[in-house]
Amino acid sequence: MFQQLTQLSSDTILGVMAKFRADPSTEKVDLGVGVYRDLTGNTPVLASVRRAEQEILAAQTTKSYVAAAGREEFNSAVEELVLGSAHIARRERRARTMQTPGGCGALRVGAELIRASAPGVTVHISDPTWGNHTPLLGSSGLRLERYPYYDAAAHRLRFDAMLEHLEHAAAGDVVLIHACCHNPTGADLDPAQWQALALLLQRRRLFPFLDMAYQGFAVDLDADAAGVRLVAEQVPEALIASSFSKNLGLYRERVGALIAIGENPARSDAVMSHMLQIARSIYSMPPDHGAAIAARIFTNPALKQQWLAELAAMRTRIADMRELLSRQLQRVIGDDAFDFIGMQHGMFSLLGVSPQVVERLRDRHHIYMTPDSRMNLAGIMPHNAAYVAEAIAAERRA
Ligand code: LMR
Repeated sequence: MFQQLTQLSSDTILGVMAKFRADPSTEKVDLGVGVYRDLTGNTPVLASVRRAEQEILAAQTTKSYVAAAGREEFNSAVEELVLGSAHIARRERRARTMQTPGGCGALRVGAELIRASAPGVTVHISDPTWGNHTPLLGSSGLRLERYPYYDAAAHRLRFDAMLEHLEHAAAGDVVLIHACCHNPTGADLDPAQWQALALLLQRRRLFPFLDMAYQGFAVDLDADAAGVRLVAEQVPEALIASSFSKNLGLYRERVGALIAIGENPARSDAVMSHMLQIARSIYSMPPDHGAAIAARIFTNPALKQQWLAELAAMRTRIADMRELLSRQLQRVIGDDAFDFIGMQHGMFSLLGVSPQVVERLRDRHHIYMTPDSRMNLAGIMPHNAAYVAEAIAAERRA
């Protein structure tokens, strides 16, 4: 059976995580895998999560199945969180939401749904994009193509080139769009750019697949969803993948959702029936524990307040570390070449150096990031910012 299978190299992001763990150095700095870290370097269980979890465990009387769509109260709370309470797709009862195992589960079910519905379409993904987008969408058999998004050397968006590419995409093609805190660049569209993109999608009859893994990490929950809401207003159909790994810190619990918007309620029901069948054929039902915690937080005003404060604290800490690192780089380099780090959003920025420099930062300074020079700014601390800046300055031209 297995004779044809040869050893594969490890996943890029998870490979960096494993190398970091194996490094015994006390100076090591983890700018690799995208998890939040507090000032002690820990990825904490949020206090709101701990409270909700204790309440759930105390009240739980069964571990029996929930449903293929997951928890109803989770799904309706997520829909409101993502689309807002008064969104036209909700008013017209065109949105359907299904709990999934993480945002990855949502992306994969969405890809299978697209393939079942329109197997010949191309999915246009940003260049660069998150390393797992290609395997998650590509292994459903869909054809993928890249649209220009970011110039890593100039540290800026390639928005005109992006529009130009999409102008030539075939009608019905899918465009995967990062909702906010673009991974790996940290460079997001501004409101005018979202507007232009939404109009193009509508005019060219392109299908948006929006990936929202960092809602609340740029500005706040509503502002970060503004682009998604705008696009979902302008076009008749869309898919939205949502993840609660980062904003609730529920990484290992695998909490996500897939929202489908159809052109009318009957079509949306049909789409939902396919989503349920796809889920059933892959994993049957999503895990419940994390979604039960999330639903409790979303629907209990006191817990929600506490969560919002914790989310704001995570966001602010990362923004502060962006500022600090760019100031330290300015100090050691003597120019503003890295000021962009302070202006971007979310966990990541691309340093814009070669894989060889990334290797030297790892081998000589124990600083870990992915080979494309993506840094998770949550790994920067007040005590290591100067060390990281000095190492970057020493290695970037060496
Ligand atoms: C990341 O981008 O590092 C995270 O989303 C973790 C992962 O699964 O890749």
